[in-house]
Amino acid sequence: MKRTHHCNQLNRSNIGETVRLIGWVQSVRDHGGLGFVDLRDREGITQIMIDPQNNNLEGLLHSLKDESVIEVIGKISARPGETINDEIQTGEIEVIASEVVVHNISDTLPFPLDDRADRVSEDIRFAYRYLDLRRRKNINNLKTRHRISKAIRNYLDANEFVEVETPCLFKTTPEGAREFLVPSRVNPGMFYALSQSPQQYKQMLMVAGVERYYSLARCFRDEDLRADRQQEFTQVDLEMSFIECEDIYNLIEGMMRAAFSEALGLNIDIPFRRMPFVDAMNDYGCDKPDTRFDIRLTDLSKLFEVSEFKVFSSCVQSGGSVKAINAKGLADISQGEMKALEDVARALGAKGLAFIKSENGEWKSPILKFLSKNEIDELASRLNIEDGDIIFFAANEWMKCCNILGRIRLEVAKLLISRGKLDIPKNRFDFLWIVDFPLISYDQDSGRYIATHHPFTSPVIDDIDLLKTDPRKVRGQHYDIVLNGFEIGGGSIRIHDANLQEMIMKDVLALPEDVINERFGYMLRAFRFGAPPHGGIAVGLDRLSAIVCGTDSIRDVIAFPKTQKGQDLMAQSPSTASDKQLRELHISLIE
Ligand code: AMO
Ligand code: AMP
Repeated sequence: MKRTHHCNQLNRSNIGETVRLIGWVQSVRDHGGLGFVDLRDREGITQIMIDPQNNNLEGLLHSLKDESVIEVIGKISARPGETINDEIQTGEIEVIASEVVVHNISDTLPFPLDDRADRVSEDIRFAYRYLDLRRRKNINNLKTRHRISKAIRNYLDANEFVEVETPCLFKTTPEGAREFLVPSRVNPGMFYALSQSPQQYKQMLMVAGVERYYSLARCFRDEDLRADRQQEFTQVDLEMSFIECEDIYNLIEGMMRAAFSEALGLNIDIPFRRMPFVDAMNDYGCDKPDTRFDIRLTDLSKLFEVSEFKVFSSCVQSGGSVKAINAKGLADISQGEMKALEDVARALGAKGLAFIKSENGEWKSPILKFLSKNEIDELASRLNIEDGDIIFFAANEWMKCCNILGRIRLEVAKLLISRGKLDIPKNRFDFLWIVDFPLISYDQDSGRYIATHHPFTSPVIDDIDLLKTDPRKVRGQHYDIVLNGFEIGGGSIRIHDANLQEMIMKDVLALPEDVINERFGYMLRAFRFGAPPHGGIAVGLDRLSAIVCGTDSIRDVIAFPKTQKGQDLMAQSPSTASDKQLRELHISLIE
């Protein structure tokens, strides 16, 4: 090793020692003849003093540019009292350089690597991601993510899991997200699909008798990117035989405990709270509720069933719901903020966003004139309306009504936080299991029943008879794990009976027989050769790491993330392919 210590290691106990450090020049300061360099490496910073009187070092100071790589040999000396820097670990000492080797002089940087970089556009930072990653918080995010992975690996190993790699080149499956297709050169006209998750392989590993499998699996989905979505991401994917839901809850609670303890030194409380899907939707308007703040939805369908206000009563009479939330203390909302909330609601299918404001002892609302005395009294008590509050209403089909107010709830929380009226402590981690999902949902777009999770999820055994009569009432043995309003994982107990699996695909999901045979024939066959009861889960490692690192975007915990448009601006991918490459793949491009 070239170095004797890293740059965060030395302190008073090393005074007098001769050391060799190597790293990047964070800054150079010329103090009337004496030069000071802050030398930085992955671990921290050490101050180097360069005395130009030292013949070797003459002229050096002015040739060093920020971010050059140098190696320094020198003696540790105590810093004079007034120059001690409490902000860094090594602030009590400095290295008096006797020899400096320059390994690389940096060009002028495209952006400064200190806090000012936060204001540099993401496009520029991503084009120079190798510089962006040198910043302390980014390197720390990578280290934290590493510690989480390590804790998870150790934990699963201690619980007798076997790490098995499964193929990324898989085949296209009709359910799920849009896939990336990969042309096969040796099989003209045929395509692989990049694996969306190792779901089918891990089930085959259970049939194979592996009993406990895990993998930190790379998954690929051609989705529109958002702050919490990338096209390629990593799952802590696992599957176990001979278990029930409770076993998964226990296992994952222990795993989260190990990860938080390792990454943050924090003891999280277990077991996690459980919430049925229907309650999550009714109370929080969302299947991944952020329970760190207590604004809840109030159902007013009964109250407005026979109201004079036709927008509400006709909605209830046609089977829909009317719900409201009280944004406590937000009556001072500006016109612009109000308009933005309305736009959010409309984008989710709302026809409007009725509201009532309580200000200076008076209620103000365009809908007040339609409300009866009884309705007003009921609202006041059920929503606990006090001066300074504003109530938002949604009247719509149940699911839409929940979704609209669920989003308004989150937007309102942001507005309250920005006004200092709501405080969410940084170190608060609200874990939640969402349970009792419906096995089947109705997809308005395709007019078909689809699997809420995926088609391999087992129904609750008591509900199997309902599959043919009223499939929407069937509960699935599916669970999601939610943390601070993000779905960080999901899984289920699977079907291991070939006949039940085939029946659900054919009769409930109405998949054509040839599709079933072509896509899932091998699974159905495997299930006839002694398939054990099994189940599992996948936890999104990027999302989990982002929350642990206290950032909103998973891009901050991915070394080389893609932009919103799915581009890697550093390596410049995607890129075009040559005619020769395309010919080999039997592909021609349409203009
Ligand atoms: P699911 O599709 O719910 O389940 O994915 C599991 C978890 O993976 C994370 N995730 C993502 N993270 C970043 N970017 C994305 N585009 C993205 N998509 C999903 C989420 C999610 O909760 N095979 C099943 C699991 C199982 O049944 O065992 C599956 O993939 O945190
Ligand atoms: P209207 O009588 O249609 O002008 O609506 C009166 C108020 O109710 C307006 O503030 C609308 O924005 C609002 N509104 C209309 N439809 C709905 C709905 N489905 N849910 C919530 N508010 C609505």
